[in-house]
Amino acid sequence: MEKTDRVIIVGAGVFGLSTAYQLAREGFTNITVLDRHVPPVPDGSSVDISRVIRFDYGDEVYLRIAYEAYRKWTGPKYQDIFFPSPFIVSSNSESALGRAYTESCTAALTKHGLPWTRLEDANSAKSMYPMLSGTLAQPGFSGYTNRQAGWADASKAIAQLRDDCLELGVSFVAGRAGTVTKFESDAAGKIRAVRTLQGTALQGDHFILSAGAWASSLVPFYNSTISTGQVLGYIQLTDDEMERLRQLPIYINFATGWFNFPPHPDTKMLKIAVHGWGYTRSPDDAEKATMPHHDVSSPPLAAARARRNFAPEDGVARLRAGLREILPELADRPFDRLALCWYTDTPTGDFIIDYHPDHENLFVAGGGSGHAFKFLPVLGHYVSKGLKRELPKDLAEKWRFRTEYQHDANVFKGDGSRGGPLRRELSPEETRAKL
Ligand SMILES: Cc1cc2nc3c(=O)[nH]c(=O)nc-3n(C[C@H](O)[C@H](O)[C@H](O)COP(=O)(O)OP(=O)(O)OC[C@H]3O[C@@H](n4cnc5c(N)ncnc54)[C@H](O)[C@@H]3O)c2cc1C
Ligand SMILES: *[C@@H]1O[C@H](CO)[C@@H](O)[C@H](O)[C@H]1NC(C)=O
Ligand SMILES: *[C@@H]1O[C@H](CO)[C@@H](O)[C@H](O)[C@H]1NC(C)=O
Repeated sequence: MEKTDRVIIVGAGVFGLSTAYQLAREGFTNITVLDRHVPPVPDGSSVDISRVIRFDYGDEVYLRIAYEAYRKWTGPKYQDIFFPSPFIVSSNSESALGRAYTESCTAALTKHGLPWTRLEDANSAKSMYPMLSGTLAQPGFSGYTNRQAGWADASKAIAQLRDDCLELGVSFVAGRAGTVTKFESDAAGKIRAVRTLQGTALQGDHFILSAGAWASSLVPFYNSTISTGQVLGYIQLTDDEMERLRQLPIYINFATGWFNFPPHPDTKMLKIAVHGWGYTRSPDDAEKATMPHHDVSSPPLAAARARRNFAPEDGVARLRAGLREILPELADRPFDRLALCWYTDTPTGDFIIDYHPDHENLFVAGGGSGHAFKFLPVLGHYVSKGLKRELPKDLAEKWRFRTEYQHDANVFKGDGSRGGPLRRELSPEETRAKL
């Protein structure tokens, strides 16, 4: 690769922007990032008031690089963006998966000499964090707390990263002229250009596909990703509640997938979510007309200024059940906002950082599987290594583009971190709610 080669990056989320920034730092001078909307993209998966930053993983690779990222989050660059907070990982005794996930985290932390504190029962958790007024995960609470964790204001982090890119000379194209509808390739499969909704064609030498949950509608993914909508709820707190819950820890129950963020000081919102199997969505006819691959689940394609204020009833019930578990006094409060946010799930929960099998100059960076945001400070480094075919063998193997699932009926069993009811397709009524 020459530093003057034209690099086209499709998608300005955490994968695309961190890659653009890294390549620009390495001296690449002709990088263009395209997106449906100006970043921070309001309905992009990397954008919201918050994202959890933790290095609690059973998987050694993610633990190591999440720790590397955590060290950066706590540095001066992110001081108005990253907020430290303790992290409680819990499960009940009935969920074998939930318990196994928790135990694999503590085993890996111990192995790496990283401190954590076992919570003997719900009462010991509650005496450590007295604002937790519910019964916590039951029956048979088990869990631990890690004080080295926190959350980031995701929109601010993405805005800063965008500005870092601009300062280093990266170009951006947004809106119709930034919305890619097709990769145009020659007879040998080499990509020459991207075609956009505006009708324009943008030529390049290297193409990076980092379009998140939308990516699988542009090129074949061989059944190696599935886009799933995940529920989010926001409750506006009073000043008294803000004060009382200021030190609320991040709490996740891996038996149900439910988790919360500490209150967000700027908006006074308490945000809660479910890390679950999620919902799939078939594209509508208008979307199908612009997408080369429309037999896959995908989020709405039209640029939007916000996520729709909607979540399916069963998802809302799960949001409430979790609230009742830790803060029952808020469990019947109406939500000020609901939303679906999109995961790009892979069968193993591993990212995809590899060349596409059909096109020698198309590189894929994605497959975030609901856990990629925390890697923002280091992700571009790994994508750049992949692009230059310099990734260490174990990482190249872990993040390879997998074609072996193409004939499997149901391969999306996850990484052991998901709780609750199985994935389902949104009903026609729910889809008509124009998610
Ligand atoms: C509800 C929720 C909670 C999460 N919580 C956490 C967490 O606490 N901690 C954590 O580490 N991770 C978390 N994640 C996961 C993390 O946010 C994602 O893994 C990550 O943001 C994915 O980044 P991405 O760049 O792949 O996707 P995106 O940020 O979605 O970026 C893809 C971009 O591509 C653009 N695009 C799409 N189609 C086109 C097209 N045709 N042409 C041009 N541009 C296009 C989109 O507009 C979008 O901006 C969460 C995710 C969700 C949804
Ligand atoms: C980027 O590539 C285009 C197309 O080849 C060229 O016109 C332009 O001068 C290049 N820009 C830089 C900064 O090299
Ligand atoms: C994977 O591919 C098979 C065969 O093409 C198909 O029947 C199946 O529905 C796909 N699975 C998913 C989850 O998309």
